[in-house]
Amino acid sequence: MLSIATVLVISVCRYALGMSGGKIQDEDISASSQWSESTAARYGRLDFEEGDGAWCPEITVEPDSLKEFLQIDLRSLHFITLVGTQGRHAGGIGNEFAQMYKIKYSRDGSRWISWRNRQGKQVIEGNRNAYDIVLKDLEPPIIARFVRFMPVTDHSMNVCMRVELYGCEWLDGLVSYNAPVGEQMNLPAYPVYLNDSVYDGAVIHSMTEGLGQLTDGVCGLDDFIHSHVYNVWPGYDYVGWNNESFPSGYVEIMFEFDRTRNFTTMKTHCNNMFSRHVKVFRQVVCYFRSEADWEASPLSFSPVVDEKNLSARFVTVNLLNHMASAIKCQFYFADAWMLFSEITFQSGKNCYGPPHIQACRLYDDPTHKVDDSNTRILIGCLVAIIFILVAIIVIILWRQVWQKMLEKASRRMLDDELTASLSIQSETFAYNNNQSSTTSEQESNSTYERIFPLGPDYQEPSRLICKLPEFAQSSEEPAQDGVPHYAEADIVNLQGVTGSNTYAIPAVTMDLLSGKDVVVEEFPRKLLTFKEKLGEGQFGEVHLCEAEGMQEFMNKEFLFDIPEEQPVLVAVKMLRSDANKNARNDFLKEIKIMSRLKDPNIIRLLAVCIYSDPLCMITEYMENGDLNQFLSRHEPEGHLALLSNASTVSFNNLCYMAAQIASGMKYLSSLNFVHRDLATRNCLVGKNYTIKIADFGMSRNLYSGDYYRIQGRAVLPIRWMSWESILLGKFTTASDVWAFGVTLWEILNFCKEQPYSQLTDEQVIENTGEFFRDQKRQIYLPQPVLCPDSLYKIMLSCWRRNTKERPSFQEIHRALLE
Ligand SMILES: *[C@@H]1O[C@H](CO)[C@@H](O)[C@H](O)[C@H]1NC(C)=O
Ligand SMILES: *[C@@H]1O[C@H](CO)[C@@H](O)[C@H](O)[C@H]1NC(C)=O
Ligand SMILES: *[C@@H]1O[C@H](CO)[C@@H](O)[C@H](O)[C@H]1NC(C)=O
Ligand SMILES: *[C@@H]1O[C@H](CO)[C@@H](O)[C@H](O)[C@H]1NC(C)=O
Repeated sequence: MLSIATVLVISVCRYALGMSGGKIQDEDISASSQWSESTAARYGRLDFEEGDGAWCPEITVEPDSLKEFLQIDLRSLHFITLVGTQGRHAGGIGNEFAQMYKIKYSRDGSRWISWRNRQGKQVIEGNRNAYDIVLKDLEPPIIARFVRFMPVTDHSMNVCMRVELYGCEWLDGLVSYNAPVGEQMNLPAYPVYLNDSVYDGAVIHSMTEGLGQLTDGVCGLDDFIHSHVYNVWPGYDYVGWNNESFPSGYVEIMFEFDRTRNFTTMKTHCNNMFSRHVKVFRQVVCYFRSEADWEASPLSFSPVVDEKNLSARFVTVNLLNHMASAIKCQFYFADAWMLFSEITFQSGKNCYGPPHIQACRLYDDPTHKVDDSNTRILIGCLVAIIFILVAIIVIILWRQVWQKMLEKASRRMLDDELTASLSIQSETFAYNNNQSSTTSEQESNSTYERIFPLGPDYQEPSRLICKLPEFAQSSEEPAQDGVPHYAEADIVNLQGVTGSNTYAIPAVTMDLLSGKDVVVEEFPRKLLTFKEKLGEGQFGEVHLCEAEGMQEFMNKEFLFDIPEEQPVLVAVKMLRSDANKNARNDFLKEIKIMSRLKDPNIIRLLAVCIYSDPLCMITEYMENGDLNQFLSRHEPEGHLALLSNASTVSFNNLCYMAAQIASGMKYLSSLNFVHRDLATRNCLVGKNYTIKIADFGMSRNLYSGDYYRIQGRAVLPIRWMSWESILLGKFTTASDVWAFGVTLWEILNFCKEQPYSQLTDEQVIENTGEFFRDQKRQIYLPQPVLCPDSLYKIMLSCWRRNTKERPSFQEIHRALLE
């Protein structure tokens, strides 16, 4: 099992390093051999179809030969957390791929190390076909400049590969540490192995020239016997030493760096389980070597001895801007044992620190003010770096709003860093990249450069909030430490003023729309009579009103079967008069969009009040309210209903309503509109079971339980959302189809039960992960009692993992009519 700490490391450090994006130059990609010029190393880029479609070695790969490799030079040290491989497809001509492979890596180009997973296994499962991309987490991650992919086969065969590396730059600059080997602690019940089990250097009497557990980004737990890592021995996360083996009273560790650096701090993550004779070191004495010589005067630091708190913690040592290319520290025992799980260094411009600083932050002792403020400084630095990058553009465009931009930049950065990610473990999953972008499913979201595969288990599900995408409700709120924001910029624009979802549409469609004149008329405000508040959001409210004389405002094509004199029920969306300019623009944009939607099963915009404040949008409302409430009040036809004298809805009418929803969605999808929040609560019911799709959902208190909340803020309707919407932030027609499946399920249950009512929000998200991994462990919504197999089949098809395999709304509509 892996904790949030590891999860965060991985999530902050998962950038594609440039095989597919082209950032890695052709000359930095080499290979042992090539089959032909058109299958040279440079064609080994993931998701590229150039040349003959992949790198292929000259000869067939024999079992156990390991002669062939594809090598990538990253030009500097990188922390690599994930690798992706793909075979040669070449538009259907190719069918070569590597079923298995090994990885070798090197920091200096001369000493090559074979990667092994935490259980010591070297071989990685590769591809099963020529086109799917298979991503593999590297557990432990590697720190290297050069990486080699070496295809492995069990029989001789032709192999071709396309690859990508994911990770981030290794800013620590630490190239190796040398330390005495970790020892074994014999507890009465069992031994605890405190060796460095992933050390990649030489281990004889001591460890030399390698990196290992002290740099793997995983901080140990308070109780060193337990581990974040699944299925390993007690003491796995720590490297530890016993004072009896060190007559000098200290353990000396030497750290070598890539170049001379200006050091600010060293952070050592130490166990302090004094009940088992483990304590933080009593004192540390550090020597610095800048050129060839060790400085004469060492630096010494004594942390406060803590005999009250058993928690593991970071101890921060200020290195006082010493210049060094090597540091040698003597850690003095305070008790019989000393256990470390991470050591990191901060130097010069590297104020951000390596990824595991971020990761372990959760385990930091908040009472250590130093750490706390450091974290802030780290984030500050991060922001500063981004800020500099965008500064030029910013200056030109936004001279007056420095402060705001800074805030925004910081939030963007955090978004970027901590976007909806879920965890990891060396595990296969494949997804077909090509399939996710088809013309029919216009993606309304920006591209996601990083990859977020998903782990099999979560140790602390309650911490999952840290990984959840979030709708930003306010663009003014400061970014919160550790709480990821979700592709915020994108969504704020698309949110309705009432805080409800408006339809998300691709930019292209938007242009198309704005080109035409809006044909909605102004309605005299005084003819509206307030009846009931339907909901409210950040910038406005939705009221149920009666409108007099509305008939005149309705287009001829649009027939309302209401007597002339009678007032019409309408929903009035109002923008608060104090709403800012952006909100006003969005509101007007929403009017434009709404005015173009003309379908019998979509709520129509009837009129507007935009000559004076507050701006209003008047839409239809249907006398029977929303479908959720409507069905909750009704029962299926049958004995029970007869006995209780309840009103009923026949099965045929249920199907009729579902078919109308499908029809409305068919219309939306034909315009490439993505609804994002299809559910019974967003469908209105009129006379004779007519249905119209609306979008009030998010703003209504009644349904707040349907949305996943973070700190009281409405966020996402996760129980209706597809796995890819939750995990990757992708909203497409295919994810609307998923939501339709859930909506259909609600209908057949007469909305008596919330989807996955037996699961907590966290468990729903875990289940999403299971959908993603697709190992038959995902829980589907059960077949409702009323639901015939044919309908349940439709639901299941809506919840297919592969978006391309889900039916279109046309198909669903046709199937429902049958
Ligand atoms: C560390 O100890 C475990 C448990 O005895 C052992 O399986 C493993 O091989 C050791 N690792 C190293 C690198 O010595
Ligand atoms: C190291 O960095 C500090 C702070 O940035 C600076 O004041 C100092 O001059 C630097 N030392 C050297 C030798 O560059
Ligand atoms: C090791 O530590 C224990 C507990 O603090 C102490 O009793 C013992 O004398 C120490 N042994 C050595 C060799 O320093
Ligand atoms: C002990 O330290 C941990 C983290 O360092 C902290 O969360 C916890 O509140 C502390 N406990 C006490 C009793 O001070």
